[in-house]
Amino acid sequence: MEDTSKFSWPPQRKEMKQAFTEIYSSGDWWKYTGERVKKLEQKFPGSHDCRFGVSICNGSVAIDIALKALGVKSGDEVILPAYDFYSLPKSVLNVGATPVFADVNSKNFTIDKDKVKKRITYRTKAIIAVHISGSLAELDALKRLAKENNIYLIEDCAQAHGAIYDGKKVGSWGDLAIFSFGGIKLMTCGQGGMITTSSEELYKRCYAITNRGHLPDGKVNPYGIIGENFQLSELQAAVLLPQIDLLESYSQRREEAFSFLDQKLSQIDGIEILSQFPKTQRRAHMRYSFCYKSQLSRKLPKMQLLEKLNHAGIPALPGYSSAKTDPRLQKIFADQEHDFPNSRMAEDQIVGIHHTFLLNDRQRLNTLADIIKESLAIG
Ligand SMILES: Cc1ncc(COP(=O)(O)O)c(C=O)c1O
Repeated sequence: MEDTSKFSWPPQRKEMKQAFTEIYSSGDWWKYTGERVKKLEQKFPGSHDCRFGVSICNGSVAIDIALKALGVKSGDEVILPAYDFYSLPKSVLNVGATPVFADVNSKNFTIDKDKVKKRITYRTKAIIAVHISGSLAELDALKRLAKENNIYLIEDCAQAHGAIYDGKKVGSWGDLAIFSFGGIKLMTCGQGGMITTSSEELYKRCYAITNRGHLPDGKVNPYGIIGENFQLSELQAAVLLPQIDLLESYSQRREEAFSFLDQKLSQIDGIEILSQFPKTQRRAHMRYSFCYKSQLSRKLPKMQLLEKLNHAGIPALPGYSSAKTDPRLQKIFADQEHDFPNSRMAEDQIVGIHHTFLLNDRQRLNTLADIIKESLAIG
């Protein structure tokens, strides 16, 4: 049987042990910030084809900061996918702007460029493309659309460290991108995040918002930004640094697991695998996701399938809520009459498998297909 120990999660590796030991013996672990934070802010964007990075206390706050740095404010509109993790609408509201939802496509449930096009008005300031449920958004088309309409493109890469689209890493396609280093993410320090960009001015603005109005050289910013304290600590940076080097081998492993599972699950009647845009070369690995079609869920409801998978030790999760049905968004968006059929379909049908499972050997990966088949046979 294959030795899978080198792909343990969280990484139980000598590199990690060294990082913990080194920061402990250096005595630097108490510091707000220091050399390790600086190194992380150089190395991580470099590994994602970007020039600059600002480390931040989490991914949710990073979205607020990105919007503020772009000058998004009251009266502006920001276009978001109607099927998403909850962070985005609240960030748009936090800066006083209006979230405008666009439905997702039915292919892989990322934001649909044609729906985005229809939602652009003279008030639109930005589009947020989210790489979610294992899939990458159609970045080239969205970038073109943003450029043609003179609006910003932000990428949400919270689930997509190391992903590649048309030869370039995600995080380098938009004006700004956010990453998360939260507990369940592909690189983790418990709570953390990063903004990446290749624009020096946007970098300085994000830095000033995060670091009490200071610029990287310690001077006070010239933009009139008051700033906050949203920093990542030296201890967290120390834990993240070795994970940048480990990411490539873990990403290759996860991509192979995605292909293997696609091939196995596509043979099961009523399971539909998500298809990808032709320029996607490496996917968003936080959750391997597939569709559990409605004719099957009548036989065995999705939540019961999830229970069976969890019972067998497979970390299976339902998808996210669509903007239309999320109870937290109902009061705020009662006036938005749009329907989002694909987002509701995603909410009904998506099953996600957390990335820790992807690091197993083939025999164990195969149990996912076996349990689905068995469950449906007796369901
Ligand atoms: C797509 C997406 N965006 C943003 C976030 C927020 O990141 P954080 O948990 O670091 O606040 C998450 C978290 O799961 C996410 O999945």
